[in-house]
Amino acid sequence: MIYMLDTANLEAIKKAYDLYPLSGVTTNPTIISKENNGFISILKDIRSIIGEDSMLHAQVLGKTADEMVKEAVYLKEKVEGSLYIKIPVTPEGIKAIKILKKEGIKITATAIFTAQQALMASIAGADFVAPYVNRIDNISGNGVEVVKIITNQINIYNLDTKVLAASFKNVQQVHEVSKIGAHSVTVNPEIMDKMLEHPLTDWSIDQFIKDWESIYGEGKLITDIK
Ligand code: G3P
Repeated sequence: MIYMLDTANLEAIKKAYDLYPLSGVTTNPTIISKENNGFISILKDIRSIIGEDSMLHAQVLGKTADEMVKEAVYLKEKVEGSLYIKIPVTPEGIKAIKILKKEGIKITATAIFTAQQALMASIAGADFVAPYVNRIDNISGNGVEVVKIITNQINIYNLDTKVLAASFKNVQQVHEVSKIGAHSVTVNPEIMDKMLEHPLTDWSIDQFIKDWESIYGEGKLITDIK
């Protein structure tokens, strides 16, 4: 499983990168707008936190393939390191993916709600395909089932694309796509923190410390004991 963080908030990225085994940061125009700063400057700031080798996903805004390609090339020039251009799966988006693939630019096909959108984006050359789990659930679909079908398609057709399951609103959705073998997930900072929470974990640790300190003294660590 490849874990990514779905945010452009620098403090949240610093905290999560310090704690968790993360391989990348994903953004979209909504996420970027929340930070209310220059687009390129936000991306450069994120890059300085996560390093050159960590994946950074940034989305284009153009409606035509020509506009999307121009934006992608511009982003590639401005932002160093491992960059993935997010392209929505419209017909013009698929055309842009085909063109950018030939240019050697890495692509994440995004705003995916159906398995066919994902399959066509994969065949066009997308490196990642991003189905929106919670947004599918919210239109009375089954987001996890769509992720499962896409993952199977990739395996059946022996495609190089990875599924990047996105749009999660709870830990259980992340767990369900993990169970069916999704290659990667992007999760917002709040859900990322919740993925490790369990009251019995906290209780067990408290109990271990209490028992330890009853013999070895309050606040003592292994390194303090002879
Ligand atoms: O980044 C794309 C996706 O994660 C959107 O998530 O939470 O806005 O549905 P959300």
